[in-house]
Amino acid sequence: MTMPYGNFQLEIYLAGLRGEVPRYPVDAESLERKAEQVLPPWIWSYVAGGCGDEHTQRVNVSAFTKWGIVPRMCVGAEERDLSVEMFGMTLPNPLFLAPIGVIGICSQDFHGDLAVARAAEATGVAAVQSTLSMDPVEDTGAIHQQTPGLFQLYMPKDRELALSFVRRAEKAGYKGIVVTLDTWTPGWRPRDLNTSNFPQLRGMCISNYLTDENFLNKLAKPPAEDPQAAALMWALIFGKSVTWDDLEWLRSVTDMPIVPKGICHPDDARRALDLGVDGIYCSNHGGRQANGGLSALELLPDVVAAAGDKPVLFDSGVRSGSDVIKALALGATAVGLGRTYAYALAVGGEDALVHHIRSMLAEADLLMAIDGYKSIADLRRDGAIRRAI
Ligand SMILES: Cc1cc2nc3c(=O)[nH]c(=O)nc-3n(C[C@H](O)[C@H](O)[C@H](O)COP(=O)(O)O)c2cc1C
Repeated sequence: MTMPYGNFQLEIYLAGLRGEVPRYPVDAESLERKAEQVLPPWIWSYVAGGCGDEHTQRVNVSAFTKWGIVPRMCVGAEERDLSVEMFGMTLPNPLFLAPIGVIGICSQDFHGDLAVARAAEATGVAAVQSTLSMDPVEDTGAIHQQTPGLFQLYMPKDRELALSFVRRAEKAGYKGIVVTLDTWTPGWRPRDLNTSNFPQLRGMCISNYLTDENFLNKLAKPPAEDPQAAALMWALIFGKSVTWDDLEWLRSVTDMPIVPKGICHPDDARRALDLGVDGIYCSNHGGRQANGGLSALELLPDVVAAAGDKPVLFDSGVRSGSDVIKALALGATAVGLGRTYAYALAVGGEDALVHHIRSMLAEADLLMAIDGYKSIADLRRDGAIRRAI
């Protein structure tokens, strides 16, 4: 039998008896402060920043304070089952790592994508690897063995290249495609605009393109000889404004589960499901894309209702294990960490990333234990979550 996730706190307290305190903070706020100290300003600004005055980014986080789990006593929740079923797989827990296109450069060795895959293996937490990575899909895919990896597709303007990315993800052993709908052009991000900072234009995190014949054939010279031209070609073909026809096409070319990311309206969820997608990913990209003002959490319950029995992945604003539980109680099937795990990676590499994931799982598990919820199905019972006054 595997140890309950909550036992991580006992591990920490027992180590304390030997005079050891944790090398990394257990909470996201302290991690964020440390990450700001260690990251170069251009990476910090890109990760921490969002769209406009960052109102949406902030309400994504504060929305969680408007909900609370109702404690139930005498339930005997000494053992909890956090497992979930998704796309024909049973996962030991409902946490996953959301795609972060610059995760590669958040680790000091610039191989953060590999560290994410290894941390996923070490913790049983699924990871969604971005199209934008320092290491290509073949290398990350080779690490995902016991714990599934999903490949996040930014649909390029060129269909041949899109198809090639899908085929490469299939071959690399990925278990599904997350197709991001809200980022065919970057949002208006003042922190980065004020410093003219866009890592991909400097040739960062575009290894999947630079290792693809379809892309290389478009270049007059190899990227090693003219990296600037390669980066500009990337900018030209990066973003297709995905339409329902494109989703239909994607459905027709792969048997892998498809999950559209960025769906926040129930009608969009229904339309995507009608086209045969396998799940819905409710997210507003952490407030990086549109400063529209509504938190993703507020929009989650309607999307869940529209999705019926299909899984709903959720991210945007998750900062603690309690947030994870609240999103599950509001109907999410799986809950994604975003910026917080980028900060962990920056602070202490793979080791800190594993510590962060274990901290999140422990807090989530202990909330269920103390509030008397033995399973995620219990959390979804009527009355388990209430709007705070
Ligand atoms: C620096 C950064 C890069 C991101 N890159 C991608 C990406 O490549 N693909 C994608 O679908 N989402 C990307 N996202 C969005 C995340 O997947 C996720 O939706 C978001 O981080 C959730 O918000 P939170 O970090 O505030 O919790 C990125 C987010 C950040 C912070």
